[in-house]
Amino acid sequence: MKRVLVTGGAGYIGSHVVKTLGEKGYEIITYDNLSSGHEWAVLHGRLIKGDLADKDLLDKVFEEFAPDAVMHFAASIQVGESVREPLLYYRNNTANTLNLLETVSRHGINNFIFSSTAAVYGIPGRVPVEEDAPLAPINPYGSSKAVVEQMLRDLQFSKNFKYISLRYFNVAGADRDARIGQAYKESTHLITRALKTAKGEFQKLQIFGTDYSTPDGTCIRDYIHVDDLAEAHILALRYLLEGGDSDVFNCGYGHGYSVREVVDMAKRVTAKDFIVGEAQRREGDPPILVADSSKIKQKLNWRPQYDDLQYIVKTAWEWEKRLGPGSAPFS
Ligand code: UFG
Repeated sequence: MKRVLVTGGAGYIGSHVVKTLGEKGYEIITYDNLSSGHEWAVLHGRLIKGDLADKDLLDKVFEEFAPDAVMHFAASIQVGESVREPLLYYRNNTANTLNLLETVSRHGINNFIFSSTAAVYGIPGRVPVEEDAPLAPINPYGSSKAVVEQMLRDLQFSKNFKYISLRYFNVAGADRDARIGQAYKESTHLITRALKTAKGEFQKLQIFGTDYSTPDGTCIRDYIHVDDLAEAHILALRYLLEGGDSDVFNCGYGHGYSVREVVDMAKRVTAKDFIVGEAQRREGDPPILVADSSKIKQKLNWRPQYDDLQYIVKTAWEWEKRLGPGSAPFS
């Protein structure tokens, strides 16, 4: 069976991909510094605690494990934090990916899957946004990922190297058996924040901006279940291993929900009528971000199973209820 090295495999999205890879029989090594990931989240394969800044350790792990492919999730992911600390994002997301790519290149690994983001589009001129829309990020998080996409494009022309870049829209939900899910120290994402408010961790949920030019005045996003996203990674991996060419794919369902619609769903699923306030717009928020996902459906034959906001929120809620104070699940 093929061997896959997964950076950030102890994190939210990475751990769901490790779970899916494991279920399908791949050999896996997770490489993670556990700065925001968790040992308990790695359900299959070995975990090596290591940082992408540590090139010697990376070299050793690549030497010993000799992966057929690399999936790269490890990154900082908060838009607001990236505005306050841009260099941290260029360090963690761009410079560390350069280290990883140098190692990948030195060891002759030719298959690479990259976690990119819809944030590379900035405020798209047209929605649903297609992959060939201009890359015009409006925050350092999006820029730090767009630079990596450029490195990957350049690398493929100089080597036998092939990559798939998956541009995630709003990833949410959790494992159907609530074994793993989002467990950040600080949660800023809408669904998690709403559920933590329902749980009583916050007094109220703030809606950031109610004067957007959308039907109910709040921002619209394309929420995708993390297990459908994990499946997209498996398809991308198979495609590369079977000799497919480098490519870039949007990962979203192709339709969106407003903040108010998500909040209503969170109230319905939790049966809690938590307090909702209205606040200023959050800096760097595009009004509408929805994927045109026809390319991944056509080329990789991606068939999402969980395109259902209620299921997304319900799995996130089942997980949230298991989550203890130290961001670890109660056993
Ligand atoms: N929101 C609120 N209140 C909150 C939290 C969020 O109103 O307490 C709003 C935001 O303003 C935004 C929407 O809910 O309009 C979604 O916000 P999230 O923080 O959940 O997600 P973002 O759309 O900002 O960003 C996410 C990921 C990024 C990724 C982007 C791509 O965090 O990494 O989706 O669509 F780039």
